[in-house]
Amino acid sequence: MTPARPPGSDALGETLAYFRDLGVAELYLDGRFEEIEEEKKKISLKVKREAGGAPAGDAAAELQSLAFEVSSCVKCRLCKTRKQTVFADGSSSARIMFIGEAPGADEDAQGVPFVGRAGQLLTRMIEDGMGLPRSSVYIANVLKCRPPENRNPEPDEIASCRGYLERQIDLVKPEVLVALGKFAAHFLLETDEGITRLRGKWGSYRGIPVMPTLHPSYLLRQPAQKKEAWEDLLAVLTRLGIDAPARKGKQP
Ligand code: URA
Repeated sequence: MTPARPPGSDALGETLAYFRDLGVAELYLDGRFEEIEEEKKKISLKVKREAGGAPAGDAAAELQSLAFEVSSCVKCRLCKTRKQTVFADGSSSARIMFIGEAPGADEDAQGVPFVGRAGQLLTRMIEDGMGLPRSSVYIANVLKCRPPENRNPEPDEIASCRGYLERQIDLVKPEVLVALGKFAAHFLLETDEGITRLRGKWGSYRGIPVMPTLHPSYLLRQPAQKKEAWEDLLAVLTRLGIDAPARKGKQP
């Protein structure tokens, strides 16, 4: 028969896990459980303060706190292979939020989304094509950690990471979401239809208009399809009442 757990052993287990997550390798308990609980509260406060403990309603600060929380995430296997988490880039009050799939090698190394070859193309599409500074939009991914060898995200990885992106969208409150590729489109639109069918047609995520378009990595392999992606981005500008800049507003 399994022996009954001593009273308080669940709480003690949680406390030990808590210290382990903070990087504490050894703890000497000698029966001082209450003292440890007090210590835990003090550390939580300190961690929150250092992370810029966000007053509710301050989106930039709440995003900063969330980024800090994500940085120590161990909800799925990708925490074992990542160099670092990749949270987001851009403005917390952006009108447009771009959502990609997952960090690649360059993003994993730099901790910033869309900085590799695909990212450079995305930046050109935003800056040269749409005429907007990259820093004025918000860019995030479905997954915050790089899948090894850039393999596709697994369903359980997406499920583990889901709450983070949902929170980012809630905090930024963009007027338009642009889904880059099928993983972002499937996440936002809860469909499994192919991206070539979905692209260019407005959908909706919790009342926010969603424009699904082709992923920049795909466009690097199929440059002839840039025209379609460009049409999708023009539709975004039109929806927001932004004129495509006459001189620059040409296909990137
Ligand atoms: N591809 C993505 O989907 N996201 C990145 O951040 C980089 C490449």
